[in-house]
Amino acid sequence: MTTPRTAQHPILPMFTERWSPRAFSDKTVTEAEILTLLEAARWAPSASNLQPWRFIYSLKGTPEFDQMVELLVPFNQGWAKGAAALIFTAAVTTFDGERPIPTHAFDAGAAWMSLALQAHSMGLITHGMGGVEFDKATTALSLPDNLKLIMAIAVGYHGDPATLPEGLRAREAPSDRQPLEVMAFKGTFSGEIKAP
Ligand SMILES: Cc1cc2nc3c(=O)[nH]c(=O)nc-3n(C[C@H](O)[C@H](O)[C@H](O)COP(=O)(O)O)c2cc1C
Repeated sequence: MTTPRTAQHPILPMFTERWSPRAFSDKTVTEAEILTLLEAARWAPSASNLQPWRFIYSLKGTPEFDQMVELLVPFNQGWAKGAAALIFTAAVTTFDGERPIPTHAFDAGAAWMSLALQAHSMGLITHGMGGVEFDKATTALSLPDNLKLIMAIAVGYHGDPATLPEGLRAREAPSDRQPLEVMAFKGTFSGEIKAP
């Protein structure tokens, strides 16, 4: 894959080379590969080292995978059914029911990024999805009250964009980012908050 992405400052190539395709090939992933991705996530930093992330995964070709596809919003089902594995990511909001973990989603986000970069290093693609039927998925995955579903992740090998539903083919390319000046400030915030 060639990438038109250009960094403004020197960084490791993986940051601009990783992106989120939607076209998956038929190539399967092994459980060992998924466990390697989750192992990378396990080593993410978190507030007080609470590690408030939990993952529920399935491999394509199993009843669990077919069920997980049904837990995605229809738009995501359309392409994510081609993935080799699905991983639902949840965050622990409290361990004792009294003290909330304010950083639960942030910590789970760090774990997701570790997973995504590990996958990239193995030639795998990942695609995060906030488009989940949250109530349905929370019940189907047997999540307790203090485990908040955050997002799902499609994993596999990059395939031919021609296999995608029409309308998604043209979007199958790495996206750009806003300039660093929009998001980083010395001393005090002096920018504008507006959607990219
Ligand atoms: C938390 C999260 C939720 C996302 N939800 C969806 C989604 O529901 N459907 C989708 O097609 N892409 C989804 N994406 C993919 C983003 O649109 C994508 O990461 C973003 O456009 C940046 O592109 P890149 O990952 O290729 O760099 C999601 C990504 C993240 C991190």
